[in-house]
Amino acid sequence: MIGVARRWTQLGDTDPMWAALTDAGRGGRWDPADFLRTGRREIDAMLSLLDRRGLTPKMGTALDFGCGPGRLSAGLAAAGFARVIGVDVSPTMLAKAREIVDDERCEFVHDEGTELASVADDSIDLVYCCRVLQHMPTELSHGYIRHFLRAAAPGGLVVFQLPAEPIGLVGGAMKALPAPVLDRLRAGMEMHGTPTAAVTRLIAEAGGVTVSVEEDRSAGPRWRSHLYVVRAEK
Ligand SMILES: C[S@@+](CC[C@H](N)C(=O)[O-])C[C@H]1O[C@@H](n2cnc3c(N)ncnc32)[C@H](O)[C@@H]1O
Repeated sequence: MIGVARRWTQLGDTDPMWAALTDAGRGGRWDPADFLRTGRREIDAMLSLLDRRGLTPKMGTALDFGCGPGRLSAGLAAAGFARVIGVDVSPTMLAKAREIVDDERCEFVHDEGTELASVADDSIDLVYCCRVLQHMPTELSHGYIRHFLRAAAPGGLVVFQLPAEPIGLVGGAMKALPAPVLDRLRAGMEMHGTPTAAVTRLIAEAGGVTVSVEEDRSAGPRWRSHLYVVRAEK
């Protein structure tokens, strides 16, 4: 965990918006307003998906886990959540979030533990987590999925993205590369996947009901990735 925190603190120090969303190219090229607009679009798409699956979140408190510079927290607030808690392990990412998100419904919380201790049990109406769990060892990401369900209110929703495995020739070949080479290719952002069946088993063990498993592209073209839509049964 110390390694994860150190790495994201460095990335947040050099180019936080690029490290959160690499679409705009490296070197401070994101315009903050454009960056925040991507968050609003992503949250609107996620809420439309919930609607299509017959789910209506209570618009009380949302948790944006691994919030980075806050584009999804801002999107959740703009979509109508009364309170949004953005949690991140990286103080530099959080500093950027506080600088660019001007919305009193959003609060940004530093948490470098593995237990999500900053978030109370049964307190969250919607957990959203995208482009985060893929970048940490699986024992850690699986623990967070359990804590998402612990933090969710009864009947609350948990929506998170996680890749399953690399795909295609390049994705498969990358698995064989030595760790330092892979690390350089990925600019220090390690990648990990978990097979879908193992994720749905974990969700059930943690007291969740998997409502749907959607195809997702946020891990890039070399990974099969999914967005899991889960209801907390308590
Ligand atoms: C690729 S960025 C994505 C940021 C944001 N979710 C978005 O899509 O804009 C990954 C974020 O997850 C955070 N992160 C990584 N491991 C974490 C952990 N164990 N606890 C909290 N945040 C973590 C990093 O600091 C970073 O801000």
